[in-house]
Amino acid sequence: MSEKENLKIDNNFTPVEYDPQYILQVNALKKYFPIKGGMISHTVGYVKAVDGVTFNLKRGSTMGLVGESGCGKTTAGRTILRLSGEKTGGQVLFNGKEVYDMSKKEMRELRTKMQIIFQDPFSSLSPRLPVGEIIGEAVREHNIVPKAEFNDYIDSARVFRRSEAENLYCKGTRAKP
Ligand SMILES: Nc1ncnc2c1ncn2[C@@H]1O[C@H](COP(=O)(O)OP(=O)(O)O)[C@@H](O)[C@H]1O
Ligand SMILES: [Mg+2]
Repeated sequence: MSEKENLKIDNNFTPVEYDPQYILQVNALKKYFPIKGGMISHTVGYVKAVDGVTFNLKRGSTMGLVGESGCGKTTAGRTILRLSGEKTGGQVLFNGKEVYDMSKKEMRELRTKMQIIFQDPFSSLSPRLPVGEIIGEAVREHNIVPKAEFNDYIDSARVFRRSEAENLYCKGTRAKP
């Protein structure tokens, strides 16, 4: 195969129709990262991080994506959330709407509904910021509660988290090995 043939991206897929039982429909999703090479740094190949992923997520249900390190789980998540530039191919329908066709305004609204929580606690929860600041940032950024209610809202969220943590702690100390 010539180098040019090698760089062709096959984006043929049968489009999926909206099915209201699903909150998220991912169809033939692809995300390739170009590999640069040569004197003038052109694309010589791709890392096919996500190469044709299809699944439907039912409303109110939970799904796990499992696989060895480097198999593309994070890239799939980031691509679904449109956090990684353009997708290479396929569809991402959230409530039947193509995420990659959404306007800036629609994307802002989507960000309150679909989010990534990163596994590494130090990248999610800055040890330099008070808890109220961390959980308050998204609430303030997306105007989730009116300004006047902001402090009460954050306080109640904090108290809830603490009592939940205490519960877990108590269970832990009482549990038998
Ligand atoms: N920004 C990027 N540029 C180039 N390659 C990347 C990038 N992000 C991820 N990759 C590659 O894509 C593949 C999948 O990575 P990743 O989605 O992080 O896997 P996982 O989360 O399952 O461990 C890996 O080979 C990784 O090196
Ligand atoms: Mg990962």
